Amino acid sequence: MKDILFSPIQIGTLEIPNRFVRSATNDYMADNDGCITRRQIELYRHLAEGGIGLIISGFLYVHPTGKASPGQTGIYSDDHIPGLRSLTDTVHKAGSIIAAQIVHGGRQARPRICGGEAIAPSAVEDTRTKVQPREMSRGEVESVIQWFVDASVRAQKAGFDAVQLHAAHGYLLSQFISPHTNRRDDDWGGTAEKRSRIIFEILRKIREAAVQDFPVFIKLNVKDFLPGGLDIHESLPLAVSLDKAGIDAIEISGGMVEAEGTPMAQTDILSPEREAYFRMFAEQIKPVIRCPLILVGGIRSVKVMEQLIQEGTADIVSMCRPFIREPDLVLQLQKGKDKGDCISCNKCFNPRGIRCPHVEK
Ligand SMILES: Cc1cc2nc3c(=O)[nH]c(=O)nc-3n(C[C@H](O)[C@H](O)[C@H](O)COP(=O)(O)O)c2cc1C
Repeated sequence: MKDILFSPIQIGTLEIPNRFVRSATNDYMADNDGCITRRQIELYRHLAEGGIGLIISGFLYVHPTGKASPGQTGIYSDDHIPGLRSLTDTVHKAGSIIAAQIVHGGRQARPRICGGEAIAPSAVEDTRTKVQPREMSRGEVESVIQWFVDASVRAQKAGFDAVQLHAAHGYLLSQFISPHTNRRDDDWGGTAEKRSRIIFEILRKIREAAVQDFPVFIKLNVKDFLPGGLDIHESLPLAVSLDKAGIDAIEISGGMVEAEGTPMAQTDILSPEREAYFRMFAEQIKPVIRCPLILVGGIRSVKVMEQLIQEGTADIVSMCRPFIREPDLVLQLQKGKDKGDCISCNKCFNPRGIRCPHVEK
């Protein structure tokens, strides 16, 4: 049975040796200029040696105005390339594959961190953080598209095997697709198609700029968990259109920082029934797309992982917090362990560097 989790899968031009993805995880360990540090190289070495098929980097901001938290890594300047190259070399030497998650924080980039005003599709205040963003001009929308394209070219130069567009969790691309945060009535808002247009433009321009067949994935919000926010009736057709436009894989997630609780990283996942909390959305999306569906969110036990793949709910299982606690979890599962030890307490969020408080140092 477990063989299915250790069977390879093709994503675009990449062959992933097993069905495990490390979901993008901001580690809060880069230096003040967003450059990679020794601590990050060590962290990724452990993950890659731990047998994960595909590692997705933490949040790499495409422009200084898009930095959302301290210690995030930048990809907005060629000065970032040498550090990122050391990271990808380390991962490749240990036999794993790595994608760069490229992001702009939009209104979730706090002014004191992003060095000025937060920008967003519309000037809608974030009621949780009290950030009041400024509405982007049309020219700024074009600039953002270019920042994502330039970041993809840098990712390729730095040796990444793919990029992942972060269009989840309320960051800028997620703000564009959401009717809650995008109230524009120009070419970039109004209908669901116009709200998502920025993503299709980025995808098209990456295809033109990057070396042929460079895989592009997306982490997509299926539901914002906010009144008037994005929901499955709009995210499902969006997933279908992305698939048709040639996206190589879709990782589905949900929630925004403004939403109650932490819908993207739910707590107390202590029984199989609580696991895979976005499963109901995967069940609707998977049958109508051709590209692989990556499912994230509270996946913890071999039983649930196997079930998800066997029943055709997802092609790949993706985890974040379990790998903070046990970077070698995949090897342990292969040897017979039946679930990760992570208790989903969210105490791993640590602005001085992610760490699991339940692991002895
Ligand atoms: C410390 C921490 C950092 C995270 N950083 C990112 C990030 O940079 N990009 C992203 O898309 N999601 C990020 N997430 C969300 C995870 O990728 C994932 O979607 C979520 O934690 C649910 O998966 P899990 O139950 O396996 O942890 C982060 C989560 C945690 C706990």
